[in-house]
Amino acid sequence: MYRTHTCGELNEKNEDKEVVLAGWVHRRRDHGGVIFIDIRDRYGLTQIVSDPVNQKKSHDVMNLARSEYVLKVTGKVRLRPGGNENTNLKTGKIEVLVTDIEILNESKTPPFEIDQESEVNEEMRLTYRYLDLRRERMKNNIVLRHSVIKFIRDFLDKENFLEIETPILIKGTPEGSREYLVPSRLYPGTFYVLPQSPQQLKQLLMVAGFDRYFQVARCFRDEDQRGDRQPEFTQLDIEMSFIEVEDIMKINEKLLIELIKKFVPHKKIKADPFPVLTYEEAMNNYGVDKPDLRFDLPLADVTDIAGKCNFSVFKDAVKNGGTVKGLKVSGGSKFTRKEIDEFTEVAKIYGAKGLAYITIDADGLKSSIVKFFDEKELKQIIDKCVGKAGDIIFFTADKFKIACESLGHVRLEIAKKMNLIDENLFALLWVKDFPMFEYNEETKKLDAVHHPFTSPKDPDVFKKTPEKALAKAYDVVLNGVEIGGGSIRIHDKEIQSKIFEILDISKEDAQRRFGHMLNAFQYGAPPHGGIAWGIDRLLMMFANELNIREVIAFPKDQKAKDLMLKAPSEMPNEQIEELHIKLNLK
Ligand code: AMO
Ligand code: AMP
Repeated sequence: MYRTHTCGELNEKNEDKEVVLAGWVHRRRDHGGVIFIDIRDRYGLTQIVSDPVNQKKSHDVMNLARSEYVLKVTGKVRLRPGGNENTNLKTGKIEVLVTDIEILNESKTPPFEIDQESEVNEEMRLTYRYLDLRRERMKNNIVLRHSVIKFIRDFLDKENFLEIETPILIKGTPEGSREYLVPSRLYPGTFYVLPQSPQQLKQLLMVAGFDRYFQVARCFRDEDQRGDRQPEFTQLDIEMSFIEVEDIMKINEKLLIELIKKFVPHKKIKADPFPVLTYEEAMNNYGVDKPDLRFDLPLADVTDIAGKCNFSVFKDAVKNGGTVKGLKVSGGSKFTRKEIDEFTEVAKIYGAKGLAYITIDADGLKSSIVKFFDEKELKQIIDKCVGKAGDIIFFTADKFKIACESLGHVRLEIAKKMNLIDENLFALLWVKDFPMFEYNEETKKLDAVHHPFTSPKDPDVFKKTPEKALAKAYDVVLNGVEIGGGSIRIHDKEIQSKIFEILDISKEDAQRRFGHMLNAFQYGAPPHGGIAWGIDRLLMMFANELNIREVIAFPKDQKAKDLMLKAPSEMPNEQIEELHIKLNLK
């Protein structure tokens, strides 16, 4: 028998008990003859002590043990002498006096310390992920992941949902990213596609009558990496039949709140029920479609007033159908030139051509643009932005989306700079009524904003002016991060065909790519809709991490590589040829 107990469970109640433990050498201390080892497993640490006089053989083995050696230890539990207790440790009141010990395996010196949360470069951590996962923080994240997913499964099971697995080798699904292809050996020149999400399959499950489906689903997207993106990530995928937008919001809200209360009870939920903003309200008031509502700092719209002034930047923007947005920052007159330049750079990242501003001092307004306004216009603009002495007002003038987004990101930067963010707050909200389509400057065509299976909000608007139509689509946002998104789907073959037409997908092409959907919709498709959460993103926020790699056991690095497995990697020629593929490497 390797163990009678784990390394995290012995306490004073086990005094005098004979036990067997197995685990890794976490720390070893030689106290002039007596050797102490903290032996570690997933459950915790237990201090073991040698007896150099009566158990010399065991003492000598303990002398040989080094960091990360694997040990099997037999011994007797005893209370630590008074004053030597460790209150930070579950097992801190006891120790095990060793009577027999066996080195089950040796270990090379690890490339970084396991027993300390020291900064280690990420390349090293990912290359030796199995060692990194031994560290407390990572271990806790993986345990949290398990517990959260288990809680979700139990919750949805109680709510009558069925977990159904959908295939990984499928056909393309238009979720807006580049796809991973898998060449077929049996059918030369053909490919499977890895799912960007189970979107189409879950809709087909609704046609099949499984009116409440969920899946903890792996998704694959070949897109540029960021802190909150992975090429391979996990969704909580949900689909329901005979429901409206509000039903989906309600059940998701309930699950989210229960999860937060259970796993991050120290986080205060800012508003329950969650506020619901339309896409337009979110853009107008906060400049982004996933606003961080932990702080206020709303944007104002000054298009009307700015359109009349003599500042050509503003006037021309408005003349061309654009928007002028203002952002008042209380106490912002103290910003230095350098800080303002930094905010300007942020605005430029998001497409702004500049960042105009007016500083309101006790003795008047300071700004290079004041001269272009008359007294009345200035007063109107300042009133609209609710400016007073000591404040600064920033402006962006551009197309609606650029003016909003660039100033929205300046808003976030300012909140960070001025410490306006309460780290203990969880501000959740829904954003709904996204546009159905957006114009793609490159292809000169309309693209689906969510995906082409999303139902229009108003069928009449959709029929008359599809480019203006809003969608029955919604995102759930937590502290400025989009943690989930979904929509009510189209269950009508005619509307679905019309959408493909608008997206310039020909009838033949639609039939070739989505024939299975169009066919299925002819056999009694129920009204349905759903959502998918980015589980990794949610866990990242629960674990207070800044990067989703920290909550994934074996993630890819920022360049989509698996540094431990060294994937992607070259393949033997025979294997490539078997797939009827010729490499064309330049
Ligand atoms: P969407 O594409 O919005 O919708 O994805 C849903 C959620 O998945 C998360 N997510 C990601 N997480 C990590 N890495 C990525 N590369 C990544 N991409 C997306 C986000 C996002 O909100 N089929 C639809 C859902 C539906 O309509 O029901 C879908 O996939 O948190
Ligand atoms: P200029 O007259 O070009 O020196 O610009 C005066 C101020 O307007 C500077 O602070 C610029 O950053 C700013 N500015 C220029 N273009 C824009 C724009 N599109 N929106 C907002 N501010 C701008």
